[in-house]
Amino acid sequence: MSHSASSRRAFLTRASLATFTVLTARRSPAVATREESVQIHPNVEIGMLRPELHGHFAEHLGTCIYGGLWVGTGSPVPNINGFRKQAVEYLRELRIPVLRWPGGCFADDYHWRDGIGPVAKRPRRVNIHWGNYTEDNSFGTHEFIALCRLIGAEPYLAGNLGSGTPQELRDWVEYCNYPSGSTLSGERATNGSPEPFRVRYWGVGNENWGCGGNMTGGEYAAHYRRYSMYMREFGGTSPYLIACGPNGNDVAWSRGFMDGLGSYRNVSGFAMHFYSGGRDTPTKFTVENMNEQLSSFARMEQAVVQQRALLDGYDPQRKIGLLVDEWGVWDRMIPEEEKKYGRLWQQNTIRSAVAAALGLNVFHRHADKLVMCNIAQTVNVLHSLLLAYEGHCVRTPSYHAYGLLKPHRSKTAVRVESEGKSPLDLSVSASKQENELVLTFVNPRHDTALRVTASLNSVKAAGGSERILHAADWNEANTFDAPDRIVPRDHTVTVEGSRVRTELPPLSLATAIIRLG
Ligand code: AHR
Repeated sequence: MSHSASSRRAFLTRASLATFTVLTARRSPAVATREESVQIHPNVEIGMLRPELHGHFAEHLGTCIYGGLWVGTGSPVPNINGFRKQAVEYLRELRIPVLRWPGGCFADDYHWRDGIGPVAKRPRRVNIHWGNYTEDNSFGTHEFIALCRLIGAEPYLAGNLGSGTPQELRDWVEYCNYPSGSTLSGERATNGSPEPFRVRYWGVGNENWGCGGNMTGGEYAAHYRRYSMYMREFGGTSPYLIACGPNGNDVAWSRGFMDGLGSYRNVSGFAMHFYSGGRDTPTKFTVENMNEQLSSFARMEQAVVQQRALLDGYDPQRKIGLLVDEWGVWDRMIPEEEKKYGRLWQQNTIRSAVAAALGLNVFHRHADKLVMCNIAQTVNVLHSLLLAYEGHCVRTPSYHAYGLLKPHRSKTAVRVESEGKSPLDLSVSASKQENELVLTFVNPRHDTALRVTASLNSVKAAGGSERILHAADWNEANTFDAPDRIVPRDHTVTVEGSRVRTELPPLSLATAIIRLG
């Protein structure tokens, strides 16, 4: 197990003891209603909201890949060339923009040659980070690219800096992207793909402050410079090189890295990780622990603000983009469930969906600096979109949160001003394109309904529609037996002149699409 994962576990174990005596309140006894106003500035543009802010991550961990996305061609589970059919259909429908693979901690112990060529001849390796199980490598580079093509996502390969070599990583780039004529591109063709994969996003290590080599920012910078030097453009595909950023808001790491880079600037993105720990198991959250977890998104925003300011200090022309490469809720695991469904298997509730929407709203508000944000992880692991087991595949409330926020993609994020002071106050993000304004409201409070008036700063609205996701019981989930308990529904939004009004029940998220003009 990785150092970071084990310390997180230790924290959760301590936390679980501390909260043992706190009662799990499933429903708030009384709901108050509060008036809330927010100012939207449709003409104050932040920046283009890149679809990649709604990105995803899949690791060889638990049943995210094996048993989740990949069931194999001989499986009784309906599949498309070995990929779970229902998962493919759901992810395609959501049109996930980017998928990061193969880790995570796994990436820095992964040797890509193990996962190419005839499946029967692929070596069996031990996954040292996630339970010492034997990995048969039946899911490798070609399978990953095929999955991305099936669901319409851009592939993002996380390279091995911790235990690999610059040559190994450089060769992976050539294998994937060199059009034809070299031995490596010929090998790719023999393995089924004469066409280059044209992979643009490349991670140069993962969590190199922890499971990726336990380095300081300065040490990592020295490795980064060497590895990235050999990762080249082939056939018109320039690699977008992503450096390992801090754990949360670790300023010392970021400074160490940027100082260590010196004048070397072959960095496209800098990837921070930010998880929101939970002291309870997913469907047994107390009010206190839920509020604590949902409050962490204000800290995430603070971390984004500080890290982007730090980067700007070194890179005033803002050539380096900021990523939140792994994020999401990390609750307390249930050992029996992990045994049955795989490591880090986590049920997902309306609390998780509210958390997802709070995170996405933060990213929208920083669309001028953030280039990509990948929630961890796509299937069965941590804050997942889908839960899959045997023949079942369920869309979690967080899947629906992504669906509700999808209309923001590729629009221009615009400024929002609210009076909220507490991390649990109304969260809003807004974007526009031509005469369409998209507003997402999130109410993270369990005991207060919000009557919201959004003023459009003299811009006139002509009408609109809204969809909402809500459940009264914050421990309620979509299960294999009841997969559609929590689904989006139509909701009322009223438009008068330059005012938009809606009412948000406790623990809800809603997206309104407003016609301007
Ligand atoms: O997402 C699970 C793990 O969390 C990843 O492997 C690692 O990068 C992080 O510590």
